[in-house]
Amino acid sequence: MASSTALICDTEAWKDLKGHVEDINKTHLRDLMSDANRCQSMMMEFDGLLLDYSRQRATVETMDKLLNLAKAAQLTEKISRMFSGDHINSTENRSVLHAALRAPKDAVIKADGKNVVPEVWNVLDKIKDFSEKIRSGSWVGATGKPLKDVVAVGIGGSFLGPLFVHTAIQTDPEALESAKGRQLRFLANIDPVDVARNINGLNPETTLVVVVSKTFTTAETMLNARTLREWITTALGASAVAKHMVAVSTNLALVEKFGIDPNNAFAFWDWVGGRYSVCSAVGVLPLSLQYGFSVVEKFLKGASSIDQHFQSTPFEKNIPVLLGLLSVWNVSFLGYPARAILPYSQALEKFAPHIQQVSMESNGKGVSIDGLPLPYETGEIDFGEPGTNGQHSFYQLIHQGRVIPCDFIGIVKSQQPVYLKGEVVSNHDELMSNFFAQPDALAYGKTPEQLQKENVSENLIPHKTFSGNRPSLSLLLPELTAYSVGQLLAIYEHRVAVQGFVWGINSFDQWGVELGKVLATQVRKQLHSSRTQGTALEGFNYSTTTLLKRYLETSSEPQI
Ligand code: F6P
Repeated sequence: MASSTALICDTEAWKDLKGHVEDINKTHLRDLMSDANRCQSMMMEFDGLLLDYSRQRATVETMDKLLNLAKAAQLTEKISRMFSGDHINSTENRSVLHAALRAPKDAVIKADGKNVVPEVWNVLDKIKDFSEKIRSGSWVGATGKPLKDVVAVGIGGSFLGPLFVHTAIQTDPEALESAKGRQLRFLANIDPVDVARNINGLNPETTLVVVVSKTFTTAETMLNARTLREWITTALGASAVAKHMVAVSTNLALVEKFGIDPNNAFAFWDWVGGRYSVCSAVGVLPLSLQYGFSVVEKFLKGASSIDQHFQSTPFEKNIPVLLGLLSVWNVSFLGYPARAILPYSQALEKFAPHIQQVSMESNGKGVSIDGLPLPYETGEIDFGEPGTNGQHSFYQLIHQGRVIPCDFIGIVKSQQPVYLKGEVVSNHDELMSNFFAQPDALAYGKTPEQLQKENVSENLIPHKTFSGNRPSLSLLLPELTAYSVGQLLAIYEHRVAVQGFVWGINSFDQWGVELGKVLATQVRKQLHSSRTQGTALEGFNYSTTTLLKRYLETSSEPQI
């Protein structure tokens, strides 16, 4: 067992897996897939979900060795410390309790000795009440009109999770029906183009702005919030802010200072990391305004179902644990630096961007939780697109170029089925034909011998050969509802935690985003003084000075 300051790579379990790579390199998925017992042992079902990881480059022995690694990493203890509210985010001295955001009302989850579940439900009840008032029209804007459109202003975790869930459920029949006549938009980028796009076609009289920021200090969000405050007050007068702007934050003092009535602020807590905050008011408020609280509650319940599964299921049947261990195997032992997230569902088009933050901001670290430099890489490069769009874009590289483990996500029942008379299959079957075909194409490939039998001309054989042996996993959801979206979210959140726990890093801080922010402050000051007083550029290197000079001399920015 690793002591708290030892690195996981020094354990016997890690070394054993390093040695095992040689065994796996002698196998091909073509052969592994013909062992039905092996494949059967690599299927996992839980609460309607089916996970098939038989196309991973792993044997039953590999899985045993990975479970040993989990033991060496003290995974059981680390998971239990997370759910007990220990300050496992040690560099920020915080608990990590996003699971408490979706816990049932009668659950007891403590942070610093205090049960946080009643506070969570106070805010949820407040959201329910407020969103019903807005949706029913009993809360009206400054000119007496109902507020039918919402612009959520926020960035990073205060944007990507809510956008993902919104995009995933907006075509679900129940959600679609409950959102009739309403619009939800997201303003994230400080690029003024994003402001222009988001207010295009909106009337301040019928718009509610929700400012979402954990810290209420994020430069982009605060300037965007001031820009929309200006948009509202120019049209409706200063007093309209009380009716047209609300906030979600852990920093209620700054919310008030901004000019938003504290009664119209929805709190969350420092034990919720930004990228894990979609189940707090960060996501629940804008989504409830659009879809009604009862739909969003189903999303919370789906996530909670996975929380319970993660906490209580033996590791060999535990979906987030298995996925996390396999990711460690792919990154640290097989040496694959990337992972493709490929949902065969247009509704999940914003899933990969969300998981990029959840995974890469969490696990892109260079030192252990104790500050020791790591002699191994952590995290992976996540990217993805919905199938079949990805197939017509970057799949060439995945099939014949670099080896990239793929997550295929499929849905049994379409949110919007279409069947055209006379067609061979329904539109959803057509989509899903690709979901079922791609993993085998990657695993089996195509040999020169097969091509010869097909009379392919000799000169084309190397070009048409597929090496195969490319790993993937398939996750099949029965349907895409608010509930299953919650399940999917929690699976990936916990998978990322498992990876971080095994690698022995702190997956819950993000110091890596700070340096760029500090340097931007220096540039901001310089732009201000150069534009207002013509101050010469100072303190920048040759490259940045040249670029800034060109920018200042040729830009047509409005003068301050
Ligand atoms: O980019 C860094 C970060 O701190 C993220 O972790 C976070 O999700 C985002 O900025 C937004 O922060 P806030 O919600 O405090 O505005």
